[in-house]
Amino acid sequence: MKKAVKIIIPIIVIIILAAFTYFLFLRKQLIKEVSIIKNEEKYSLKIDYPIFYNKKIDDKIKKYINDNKKNFMKIVDSTNNATSKYNLLIQTEVHKNNGILYITILNETYTGGAHYIKDYYNLYYDIENDKLVDINYFLKDENAFNKLYKLAHYHVIEYASSTNKNFDDAWVRRGTEPKLENYSYFTFTNKGLKIIFKPYQVASYADGEIKITIPYEELTDVIKDRFVVNNNKKVEKLIPEIRDLSKYQDKKLIAFTFDDGPNTETTKILLDGLSKYDAKVTFFVLGNRVNRHNEILKRAYLEGNQIGSHTYNHKNLKVLDNVSALNEINDTNNAIKSIIGVNPKIIRPPYGNVNKNIDMAMPIVLWNIDTLDWKYRDKNKVADEIVKNAHDGAIVLMHDIYKSSVEGALMAMERLKDEYYFVTIEEMAALKNIKLENNSKYFNIK
Ligand code: NI
Repeated sequence: MKKAVKIIIPIIVIIILAAFTYFLFLRKQLIKEVSIIKNEEKYSLKIDYPIFYNKKIDDKIKKYINDNKKNFMKIVDSTNNATSKYNLLIQTEVHKNNGILYITILNETYTGGAHYIKDYYNLYYDIENDKLVDINYFLKDENAFNKLYKLAHYHVIEYASSTNKNFDDAWVRRGTEPKLENYSYFTFTNKGLKIIFKPYQVASYADGEIKITIPYEELTDVIKDRFVVNNNKKVEKLIPEIRDLSKYQDKKLIAFTFDDGPNTETTKILLDGLSKYDAKVTFFVLGNRVNRHNEILKRAYLEGNQIGSHTYNHKNLKVLDNVSALNEINDTNNAIKSIIGVNPKIIRPPYGNVNKNIDMAMPIVLWNIDTLDWKYRDKNKVADEIVKNAHDGAIVLMHDIYKSSVEGALMAMERLKDEYYFVTIEEMAALKNIKLENNSKYFNIK
């Protein structure tokens, strides 16, 4: 008896210690995503941001978001009779490269007119040393900032002449001179150092934001070598699972679709559950999220699910000018292709709104069963709504950013599995012998 206790107690202690260490480790690794959606009569808003469990970063992000939300609500409250619904979008992009986290919070507000008003906030975080850094951290020595200024000035002027614009030289110099606030938004791309100057910084508001990329060849004595991105990185070829559709003829078909992701934590719950029902689904993903959730996106694609576009930043295409609307689409195609190797073949524009002036070059896939999952956040309600309205050829709208939505979807599959096959949009069209046409809208497929 005594001997047994002597063995058991150390084992219990070791298990507790291991669990505690694992929890701490998880906590350090874990990034939790917060997603807020509101759709009121006068305005809609969509705020997505990660929590890093790091006070230095989280406090700054929260403060920026709260300040901007407050400002937006002030405008909403003081306005009556707006012609279009006001819209606030706050999205976060995160890249990790060479030990640095690049965090960009993009804040876009629509309060009438043909444009969203754009603002960003950037954080650069050195992971190993646990500190926030700025442009100086990336520069080789004390002379480098001055060299960067000369290069930036040159490239802005070159940008102006290549686009047949005439920038005021003194203005450009003021906006590019070696001061921290002039270099608050930069990233390292495959080609070089990309710097973004806010509207009015180097030219007039009408010229918008000015983006330049200084090639690495010109930066050899400016940027520390370790921040140069290796541009030989090739996108790996992914071969997705394809299933034999001939055995899916005898039951009704239903397409479950998920918007606004991917989202590592909750999309995983869905993917883990699908195989039990021999189910494939469709994801309409946001371009700004695919980089920071790239592993789960790859998995979804490899397992035979379909990846569609939900645009880059979830803007209302209807109120955008043509160039901005096209950027929303093209940037998303590029982002998706950089992860899974192919362009999306279908698109679902945010709010189901299209811009009649532009060619989406893809079929527009909408829905005819709306679970309102984002509103109720209740898995039972999601499941009931799907089961109650299910029919052959239906397209169900959900959001895989919520645990309640993915759990509700799996519950609905459990209840529908004897009567239905769960297929992607592409599979449904193939099984029903329907060719989806570019720029045509599909609420269901039959
Ligand atoms: Ni959406």
